[in-house]
Amino acid sequence: MASLVTRSPVGLLSTALLASSVLTGPALARPGHAQSATILKRQAELREEYDYVIVGGGTAGLTIADRLTEDGETTVLVVEYGYLDNSNAITAIGPPSGETNPEVHEMPSATRYYNITMVPQAGLNNRTRGVAAGCVVGGSSAVNGMIFDRGSAEDYDAWVWAAGDWQDDYAQEWGWDNLLPYFKKSVTFHPPDERMQEEYGMTSDVEAAYGGDTPIHSSYAPFQWPAQKLMWDAFKSVDGIDFPVEAADGHAVGVFWFPNSIDPSTRTRSYAQLGHYSNEGGPSERTNFHLLPAHRVTQLLLEPAEDDDGEEVLEAVGVKLMPRDGDLPSSAHQVRASKEVIVSAGAIHSPQLLQRSGIGPRDVLEAAGVDVKLHLPGVGWNFQDHTTYSASFSWGINVEPNSGTLQRDREYAALAMELWRANKTGPHAAYPNSGAFLPLNVLTPSFSSIVSDILAQDPAEYLPADLDPTLVAGHASQLSVLARQLNSSGSAVLELLFTGASSFTLINLHPLSRGTVHLAPDDDGDARGSVEPLVDYRALSNPVDLEVNRALLSFFREFLAGEAMVESLDPSEVGALVGVDAASDEFVEYLRATLTPSVAHPSGTCALGPRELGGVVDPQLKVHGTRRLRVADCSIMTLVPGTHTSSTAYALGEKAADLIRGISSV
Ligand SMILES: Cc1cc2nc3c(=O)[nH]c(=O)nc-3n(C[C@H](O)[C@H](O)[C@H](O)COP(=O)(O)OP(=O)(O)OC[C@H]3O[C@@H](n4cnc5c(N)ncnc54)[C@H](O)[C@@H]3O)c2cc1C
Ligand SMILES: *[C@@H]1O[C@H](CO)[C@@H](O)[C@H](O)[C@H]1NC(C)=O
Ligand SMILES: *[C@@H]1O[C@H](CO)[C@@H](O)[C@H](O)[C@H]1NC(C)=O
Ligand SMILES: *[C@@H]1O[C@H](CO)[C@@H](O)[C@H](O)[C@H]1NC(C)=O
Ligand SMILES: *[C@@H]1O[C@H](CO)[C@@H](O)[C@H](O)[C@H]1NC(C)=O
Repeated sequence: MASLVTRSPVGLLSTALLASSVLTGPALARPGHAQSATILKRQAELREEYDYVIVGGGTAGLTIADRLTEDGETTVLVVEYGYLDNSNAITAIGPPSGETNPEVHEMPSATRYYNITMVPQAGLNNRTRGVAAGCVVGGSSAVNGMIFDRGSAEDYDAWVWAAGDWQDDYAQEWGWDNLLPYFKKSVTFHPPDERMQEEYGMTSDVEAAYGGDTPIHSSYAPFQWPAQKLMWDAFKSVDGIDFPVEAADGHAVGVFWFPNSIDPSTRTRSYAQLGHYSNEGGPSERTNFHLLPAHRVTQLLLEPAEDDDGEEVLEAVGVKLMPRDGDLPSSAHQVRASKEVIVSAGAIHSPQLLQRSGIGPRDVLEAAGVDVKLHLPGVGWNFQDHTTYSASFSWGINVEPNSGTLQRDREYAALAMELWRANKTGPHAAYPNSGAFLPLNVLTPSFSSIVSDILAQDPAEYLPADLDPTLVAGHASQLSVLARQLNSSGSAVLELLFTGASSFTLINLHPLSRGTVHLAPDDDGDARGSVEPLVDYRALSNPVDLEVNRALLSFFREFLAGEAMVESLDPSEVGALVGVDAASDEFVEYLRATLTPSVAHPSGTCALGPRELGGVVDPQLKVHGTRRLRVADCSIMTLVPGTHTSSTAYALGEKAADLIRGISSV
């Protein structure tokens, strides 16, 4: 994952991941919580049966476990492959390690990530790179970049629209209006401080977007680099751009302020382990809650049964598990779930677990030697992520201070350190809090021809050959939804974060290309389970994504060449794209050679939607063709929303907990 850190020119992820980028270091200490009664160290301590077994103690999984156990009675086991790791390095932000944040690694940082390499990307000159996914109690919320925004209302309504003729069923539970109360419930919001409101014009609307008191904190940095404000102001001279006072109330289109998942009282990472497990009164103090870290669920225990209408279905009755370390037991330990099994293993591993258990596309399962119990082709299909490439400039006008000042000016550096030490403020507290999230109709006058191109596509044309007809039908439905979003002022297509620096990553928030997460033919789900799935983004497989990427660059260049930017920062382009026309073949070659197919937002692989359209889970998040089995994590997102995904993982975790309990807590 170090590559993810260092290649980000604006340091988007680097601050957050600085501490995690050291891939060495021995385990120094035993987890401080190891004494707690709720942590199991070995399988022998497990009960034979729990009400619920949750696979994955990540962002959504711990949220669900917290809610299900808050009555003090319902018994829940969370099985998590990662370690329970209280390393200071997970939560520390601020100045480089050693200064005020002695970097303590209870476990080596490499243990907090899966070690997965994507398959060679045909659309990217067969390039490969690592797939980012967190592997620790807290899941990806423990390793992410802490950008804590939400998508626009349309981004969530899109999941309902994609259900086509079945959308009334999905509209009962999903769509923005149903999710907003769960977004509100999922965090404790801290408005920007007065000085940042005055100096930078930071705005928020608590009433419209927040109000919850869950100890997952959402806050703004107390410091920003001043060049950022100049960029912000320059956007005021671009036609058609909104500046919503609050974006998290469904208006995440335009230029706006967004928070970070940082606890402002300590200026440390706020994440699922701290907010849904070890928090005061939280699961770690409940005797009805068990956490089994360092174990992998290798298979679901499924038995034939009848549903309420007398139809034959598969019933989930428990799980098989294997320890991460130590000798391989001769057979997998089994735990039963008297009520339900909830799969929350993230968008890479939830489809893998279903497939290993016999639920998935027949050909994929057969190739891996898995007995097909339920042919459900959507499992592992519809894989999506945002894509990004860089565009570099230099400012002709030097605006001081900037991040370079810290290196150049010893007096400034000393002051910065004093501010951090005294009050955790000043330059070391800087974090991205604003950016442009723009719809296609602002980016290019030819947006309607792109929309027409989408609608004119034969839905099967850019999909793998011989894809199941339900998946093609589902893709056709998604194409019409994407055409609607790319034609609308209510869905962002470009994401551009402002940091004050002059290097940018241009993110496409609504790619059309769809990939797969499929079992490797040598999968060992009947043994240790450590063979990773084949992860194929199929990036740029749909040519409309090339057109959209052209539009991102043309727009951005035009913006930087505009009067407002020239007067305030005087940008000039540098780097490999200089002289490359966005309309040229050379630009396409640049994309194939450099595009990153992931911004670490994997989604869509167990999509919400009707089976007829390739969906995997119904509006209750129950896996089609099964009972007592749900999926609840980013894999249920039918279309990846135009935002960083962790806030949605928390919100859908809250929503899932209500669906499971059959109550409305909001
Ligand atoms: C490096 C990185 C940077 C990111 N940056 C941002 C950002 O700045 N802002 C943002 O909003 N989002 C960001 N994201 C994305 C965001 O964090 C994720 O979308 C979100 O946390 C995913 O939540 P989840 O519940 O779906 O899965 P996760 O939180 O990943 O949880 C899944 C859990 O299941 C466990 N697991 C998997 N398989 C098994 C098994 N078989 N048995 C037991 N346990 C299993 C995993 O170890 C993991 O802990 C980033 C992600 C990464 C990896
Ligand atoms: C990751 O996997 C590769 C290939 O399987 C292996 O060579 C490498 O040592 C692994 N890296 C880590 C940090 O475990
Ligand atoms: C990518 O690999 C495939 C299969 O090995 C090969 O057919 C193709 O020519 C390669 N493409 C490029 C651009 O190298
Ligand atoms: C820290 O904050 C306190 C209280 O606001 C203030 O009095 C003090 O001057 C601050 N210290 C520094 C170094 O800014
Ligand atoms: C695009 O939006 C316009 C109005 O904003 C509408 O008239 C037109 O029908 C839309 N086109 C598509 C393909 O949705």
